[in-house]
Amino acid sequence: MSVLSGIKPRKTTFDVKDVPIFWNDGDPVLTRFFDALSVHFPDGERFFIDSVRNYQDKVTDPTLRQDIRDFIRQEGQHGIVHDTYNDVMAAQGINVDKIIKNMKVVLGITQKRLPKKFQLALTAAFEHFTATLGEAMMTGDADMFRNSDPVMRALFMWHGVEEVEHKAVAFDVYEKAAGGGYFTRASALIAGTVMVHVFVAPVFWHMLKRDGMNKRPMILLRGLNRLYGPRGMMTKMIPAYLHWFKPGFHPWDSGIPENVAIWLAEYEKHQDPMEASRVVFEAADEERKVESGAVAA
Ligand SMILES: [Fe+2]
Ligand SMILES: [Fe+2]
Repeated sequence: MSVLSGIKPRKTTFDVKDVPIFWNDGDPVLTRFFDALSVHFPDGERFFIDSVRNYQDKVTDPTLRQDIRDFIRQEGQHGIVHDTYNDVMAAQGINVDKIIKNMKVVLGITQKRLPKKFQLALTAAFEHFTATLGEAMMTGDADMFRNSDPVMRALFMWHGVEEVEHKAVAFDVYEKAAGGGYFTRASALIAGTVMVHVFVAPVFWHMLKRDGMNKRPMILLRGLNRLYGPRGMMTKMIPAYLHWFKPGFHPWDSGIPENVAIWLAEYEKHQDPMEASRVVFEAADEERKVESGAVAA
């Protein structure tokens, strides 16, 4: 059950057609990392919806039943929005159709061959990953999108906030309607992590090669260091990611980042994700200035 006042689906749209190719800080690696995730979201999210739907009728708690409906509406809208950005990537020469076709084959096999309970555990595990990413992008100085194109920053922030809002739904369905169990849950995150790397890494490389970055090793190394180096964005997420393996873990153990609350309050005023993202970013920027001032002093 959410610690927020319910899960609110939002019918947002983003004008992505004029987004510059290297929209994230002009950095091809930082941009294509999020692009490679983005291209997988629509079909991945449809898989999550199906996995939860398989157990919808077994859920008796009316609050969780409502959460499931809102989770499905949120994930459905995420798919619609990321699909519009997929069209932009296709126009850049990214082989979006082939990537999606390959993904559909693997997800089809997963749905046909793996037990429904494991599909749900996988979904709960992926939701842990997306919520951890959402929390990371909404925590501290928002450095993942510090010099990002504002449209893409707003798009990812909206998605990140909603991932935090519904982070416990698949987990609660797994625990309450599918019998739960530590071993299946733990092995699902290991399997999910392998799947993400097997899927996303070749797509990430395909995109970078299309950009000619296979001939620019220094740009590659600098970008990879920003993601996976000792102070990298992904490296910083490892402790939160590993909490999943704690017996007795629940997604709400980590609460909600302050920036998520700021975003929600701002969005409530005008239903504008661009403005909500701008306000969060400015608050984070202010904090960064105060902190660096304090360090300098
Ligand atoms: Fe999503
Ligand atoms: Fe999600």
